[in-house]
Amino acid sequence: MTDIGFDGRVAIITGAGGGLGREHALELARRGARIVVNDLGGSVGGDGGDAGPAQRVAQEINDLGGEAVADTNSVATAEGGKAVVQTALDAFGTVDIVVNNAGILRDKSFHNLTPEMIEAVIDVHLLGAFYVTQPAYLVMKEKGYGRIVSTSSNSGVLGNFGQANYGAAKMGLVGFTRVVAIEGRRNGIKANAIAPVALTRMTEDLFGAAGDALDPKLVSPLVAYLASEACEVSGEVYSAAGGIISRFFIGLTPGYYNPNLTAEDVAANWNLIRDEEGYIVPDDSSGEISKIVRTVMGGND
Ligand code: NAI
Repeated sequence: MTDIGFDGRVAIITGAGGGLGREHALELARRGARIVVNDLGGSVGGDGGDAGPAQRVAQEINDLGGEAVADTNSVATAEGGKAVVQTALDAFGTVDIVVNNAGILRDKSFHNLTPEMIEAVIDVHLLGAFYVTQPAYLVMKEKGYGRIVSTSSNSGVLGNFGQANYGAAKMGLVGFTRVVAIEGRRNGIKANAIAPVALTRMTEDLFGAAGDALDPKLVSPLVAYLASEACEVSGEVYSAAGGIISRFFIGLTPGYYNPNLTAEDVAANWNLIRDEEGYIVPDDSSGEISKIVRTVMGGND
């Protein structure tokens, strides 16, 4: 079995003042990483701010013999993101790992969402990942090594009532991850996403009796693996819940081909279009383009 260790590595973990982020920070620190514990310290809805949560987790790590600094910048602005990375550079001289975990909720059914609710959620989850990862990526690119783990959600990958803003942001992180993975390949940078399910303040009313089994600690081993040198995959999405780790993937059905296609043909062949038999899982957009070229050049495959 490979040992997963982080000696000499520096990790930024956003939203690490509590919940999942705190567990990731403790897990990576326990395995030797030096940690920037970023957290704005607001409410689940993103209101307010408090230096306490980030400082407490950094202190907890230092008390356990690890090395951590607190950072209370908001990830939701470009300046904030840069400042988070600067904290890592000032304290530890480099950055090897970014775990995009900071998040808020502003749930409402779609027809009641205000622009403010849409923007606030997209700013923290999706733009926040851009703002923190981009300055860190420049450092990683220079050194030829990096690991980026972004926190998606089944609310985006699969959908969930009342979360169009959150779901869009979380699925946006999947696109972000897939493209950064492709671009980072030549510089030793791997980017993956997780879709966790865990009992935290964000989900305290959701799981009923099953909540006890959904300890956020059980998500951190996946984050540790994806953030480690041992990680071999990039551009992928993994679910983690209560000790279960699974892979989400995007499949493409063989479909139906007709060079003289009409809307009636689409309707008449709907079952074939949707038929999952023989689906492929393309690595990137060229995987689909190859399938299209094969089909139009050589007949239906
Ligand atoms: P949490 O509310 O305990 O953690 C989120 C943390 O992000 C908080 O400590 C908060 O202060 C911080 N934060 C919020 N806005 C920030 C900003 N602008 N800058 C810096 N920090 C900020 O909730 P939890 O559950 O630990 O969430 C962690 C991540 O996991 C979130 O991205 C969430 O959407 C995601 N997630 C959680 C699931 C669950 O079942 N708990 C399910 C799917 C995704």
